[in-house]
Order: sequence, then structure tokens, then C-alpha cells
Amino acid sequence: MTSLNLQHASLWQTRAHIRGRWLDGDNGFFDVTDPAGGGLVARVAELSPAQVRSAVDAAAEAQPAWAALSADARADFLQAWYAKVKEHREDLARLMTLEQGKPLGEARAEIDYAASYIRWYAEEARRIVGELISLPQNDRAGLVSYTPVGVVAAITPWNFPSAMITRKVAPALAAGCSVVLKPAAETPLSALALMALAEECGIAPGVINVVTGTDAPAIGEVLTGDPRVRKLSFTGSTRVGKALMRACTDTMKRTSMELGGNAPLIVLDDADLDLAVAGTLASKFRNAGQTCICANRLLVHEAVYERFLDKLVAAVSGMTPGSGFDEQTTLGPLIHRRALESVQAKVQDALAQGARLLTGGQAIEGQGCFFQPTVLADVNVSMQVFREEIFGPVAPVTRFACDREAVALANDTPFGLAAYVFGKDTGRLWQISQSLAYGMVGVNETAISSAQIPFGGVKESGHGREGARQGLMDYLDTRYTCLGNLIGQGA
Ligand code: SIN
Repeated sequence: MTSLNLQHASLWQTRAHIRGRWLDGDNGFFDVTDPAGGGLVARVAELSPAQVRSAVDAAAEAQPAWAALSADARADFLQAWYAKVKEHREDLARLMTLEQGKPLGEARAEIDYAASYIRWYAEEARRIVGELISLPQNDRAGLVSYTPVGVVAAITPWNFPSAMITRKVAPALAAGCSVVLKPAAETPLSALALMALAEECGIAPGVINVVTGTDAPAIGEVLTGDPRVRKLSFTGSTRVGKALMRACTDTMKRTSMELGGNAPLIVLDDADLDLAVAGTLASKFRNAGQTCICANRLLVHEAVYERFLDKLVAAVSGMTPGSGFDEQTTLGPLIHRRALESVQAKVQDALAQGARLLTGGQAIEGQGCFFQPTVLADVNVSMQVFREEIFGPVAPVTRFACDREAVALANDTPFGLAAYVFGKDTGRLWQISQSLAYGMVGVNETAISSAQIPFGGVKESGHGREGARQGLMDYLDTRYTCLGNLIGQGA
């Protein structure tokens, strides 16, 4: 088993956490493996459905007292958690690289990003303010206030093992909700380490519970079927999101769904090509292409098409695949063999349909799940790399002739998470950005994420927002109280 020599040993947790206790699984344990080397990293508790139900019991019991704390008190707990995450940044980043594979520099950046959501919602906790409505009757007033939705189930993915947790758990806690968190089975160690730090801050037992296991349908059934869970927040595939939403209808849970993307990146003929290539590299190859907002399709104006390709191939050829622990590495592994096979199949489909391979195109021989950084030119709309989320380091490039065609190509997908456009003419950029059917649009910028912005999509990319003020409102119910007979009741 891989050893990390953490500075803070209590961050190494392999058991689930329910009602303030670290628990073994009734169903034994499951293996977490290293995507870069293939070795065993840890054995983590495999919970039974009954144990997951007991986590809901714990959350339901803890929630009223947590909600009854003052906003200041909840903010102080979050602030303390933020400070702990920052203090243990290096250990948390190393744990992430171990189980997820991303280069250490990206893992450190993710820990900062994860912490920023905790700090942001520590601040926002103090700003849950209602309204007084003037009603048609003089003797009445309408009070609008916001109440926590209650127990929240959060199901998080392996591609961002820490940030996707804090951007659900921090606003839930700020709002006065308690949480049952189910992290991805590929990356439970980051979640459990965050839990250990929350516990050190004195957050009461049962307010955050972490359930671990590989039987996602069975765990999901408990979380979606229990009427005490009032909200489900999910980040993952559109297919699973739809199934979870259907399962939430019987108990009318609120849902937030951050689902798949198929982001277009448009390069106009007046674009700064160096800027566009740098933006493409930062977006397309972030986390080895395993990001929902990765530029998935590069749409390039015919006037700059070949020049853009030359620059892109030169930049991509300079990337260094390898272990995330090697500081020279700029491209980590894919998460597992299935992911590798899926990317290979998509590249083969494109080549069979006439795409031009400019660099890469193959899995890298050896123990880990590495795929060569790849550029495909002359991609058309019938290829899988155009129609589906690739989730790998493959940049497919399609040529267009005019702005109308670029927008039509960009919107030719059921997804609507993020889109990007590079160019110089402000009016043209404005027109295009407003015509894109996406929840987020980056203009001459691909690094669009932060705790301050409402992250989320439209169409089959889901609904709800994470980050910003909107991300807090998603954990609050609106209550209207009518204050009547206000006139003439004085002493
Ligand atoms: C995601 O993959 O959806 C998360 C990316 C981000 O928050 O920037």
C-alpha cells in the first residue's frame, strides 16, 4: 500500500463518519487505487444501506440545533474550517494527487479553490436577509424570510475530490442545513480528510456525515427515498442525474444538478491566436481533460484555421505526461482503465470518419492510465468527439466560415454548461456570447471559475447554481408570514 507520510496523521481516514464517529463498513471495504501507478492506495469502509440510513437519522437529529445557532456562530465554524484547510493544504493536495492523479500543482490549486468556497459561505452566512412587503391592506405587512431546507444529501464526483464537496457542504452549513455526503468511490480520502478537519473545528456530531461505498444505486436509493432528506445536490453525469431526479420526485425534494457539458471554444478570425491557444491549453487539458467545463470542441474560423492548428500542436507537444508527484508533470493520468478505453474509442471513431490526427492519439503503454495529449483536425458534427463529452486530453478542431455558423455549431448539443469565445471586436463578441445557449460564457478567458460566480448550466447540463449568492439560496426555502391587524391593537 502507498504511504504518504502526512504531516498531520489524522488526515488519513479510511472509515466512514456518522454522528461524530468513524465507522467500519458492515459490508467490509473497497479498494482505492492509484491511477498513475495502478497500485493499491487504501481500503475504505463499504457501508450497508442500513448504515446510510443511520447517517440520515444523525443528520435529521442534528439539523434543528445547527439551524438554531446564530448566523455568526455558523460563520465562525466555517471560518475555522477554512483556516484548517489552508493550514493543511500540502497534505490535502498530496492525498488528492495520490487517489485522483492530478499534478500536485493542480491539486494545490484545487485545495485553495475548495477553501475559497468555505470562506465565501462563512461570509454569506451573515447575509441571509429577508424583506418586508407593503401589502394592499393598510393593517397588514408581509414578511419574507429564508429558512434552511433541512437535511441535504450531497453526491460528489472524483474529478474535483475537494472543491465539489466544499461548494455544496459550505453553503448548506451556512444556511443551517445538515449534510449526508457521499463522495465518489474513486476519491474518498480527500472527503474523509476534509471531514476530519471539520470535526477538529468542533462542528457538532451529525451535522456533516460522510458515507462511503461502491454500491451507488443502493446508497442513492436510501438518500433519494428518505422523506427527511429535503434536498439532493449532485455533480456527475447527465444520465445519473436524470435517474436521481426521477427518484426524488416521490418526496418532492429540491435538487441541484451540475451535470455533463460539451463546451465549445470559438476562435474568431480577429482573435489573438496565442491567447486562444493558451486559453485552450488551460481549459482543455486541465485535470487531463476530465472537467465538466473543459473546452470539448474547438471551433475555428477558416481564415486562421491552419495557423491556430500549428500553434496548438506546438503547445500540446510540449506537455509532459507523468505521475502527479513529479513536479515536471503537466498532464496526469485518467481516472481508470474504463476512462482510457472510452477516450481511445472516441479517437478511433473520429479517425474512422476522416478526422486528421496531428499529434497523440494513443494510450501510453505502462501501468498507469495515461493518454497522449492529442489534437484532431477536420472534426465534423457526426463524430463522437463532437457530440459527446470526451473527458480526456483530446482537442478536436472544427472549421467554420461565419459567426452564424459558429453559433449554430456551438449550440448543436443538448448540453449547456460553459462556452468560450476568443476575438477582438467587442460588438461581435457581445452578440456571440449572448447567442450561446450556456449557463456560463468566457470571453477571451477560460479560467472562469471562482467562489464568487454562479456556476451551473442550462438544458441537459442541469439546474441550480453553486457559488455566489445564488449558491446559498439553493439551500434556503422562502417563507412568507402575513402580519395582520396591525392597526388599532395598541394598549
Ligand atoms: C467541474 O468539472 O464541473 C468543475 C470545474 C470547476 O469548478 O472549475
